[in-house]
Amino acid sequence: MTNLRKTTTEITAQKNTGTPLVCLTAYTTPMAKILDKHCDLLLIGDSIGMALYGMENTLGVTLDIMINHGKAVMRAAQNACVVVDMPFGTYEQSPEIAYQNALRIITETGCDAVKLEGGQDIAPTIAYITERNIPVMAHIGLQPQSVLKEGGYKIKGRTNEEVSKLLGDAKAIEKAGAFAVVIEGTIDTVAKNITQSIDIPTIGIGASVSCDGQILVTEDMLGLITDHTPKFVKKYASLAQDIDQAAANYATEVQSRVFPDDNYTYKAKAK
Ligand code: KIV
Repeated sequence: MTNLRKTTTEITAQKNTGTPLVCLTAYTTPMAKILDKHCDLLLIGDSIGMALYGMENTLGVTLDIMINHGKAVMRAAQNACVVVDMPFGTYEQSPEIAYQNALRIITETGCDAVKLEGGQDIAPTIAYITERNIPVMAHIGLQPQSVLKEGGYKIKGRTNEEVSKLLGDAKAIEKAGAFAVVIEGTIDTVAKNITQSIDIPTIGIGASVSCDGQILVTEDMLGLITDHTPKFVKKYASLAQDIDQAAANYATEVQSRVFPDDNYTYKAKAK
């Protein structure tokens, strides 16, 4: 079948059109089937650890988990560019190890690119991977994989030092060949400054409307995750409540033998 998905070069080029990039996370085939036509980019994010597996943070997510869910999303994606997150511990040790793991993701899932967290520190690794023909999306600002080092999830860019670090990060990853960059958890003026200072698109999550595109965790914006909602999450549905109500209705009907009625029951064929 011909690949009609958006390419990473088309994603980069969209910055100059002024049309914001629509991005969401996807982890499964049925969800990707629904989201694909609405999105420029689908991310199999390591947020899967919390959103699907009940983990406390992203640190326990493995390469095999990402590859399996990457394959699942790729079975449905026909329009959006598909990017798979490199999990914690699979790219920090050396550019060579990062490349081997990125290669596994690309060849085993058939996706379009990988994403990894970091700025100036990880730029040589981004260069090493992109020089070997694997497109990379970077992720700067609040980096969830640094939660232990940082002692929590901290908004970035509130001090002059942090602003120049963020700007330096953005410029370094652009120079290293990243095709786009996720900016997470920063204030609007900093997001605007970065977006105007680089030629690759910025995709914001908690980083204001100034970015070239937006991404949210799908389970968050559908209202499926209810225990903690960050300030930047807008809920476009209340699926947790809908599922709760549906399960309650089902339980009532099963207990009262209303379900299954004749509409849902096989009968002997008429002779
Ligand atoms: O893991 C993830 O879902 C992400 C997005 C929130 C950008 O990195």
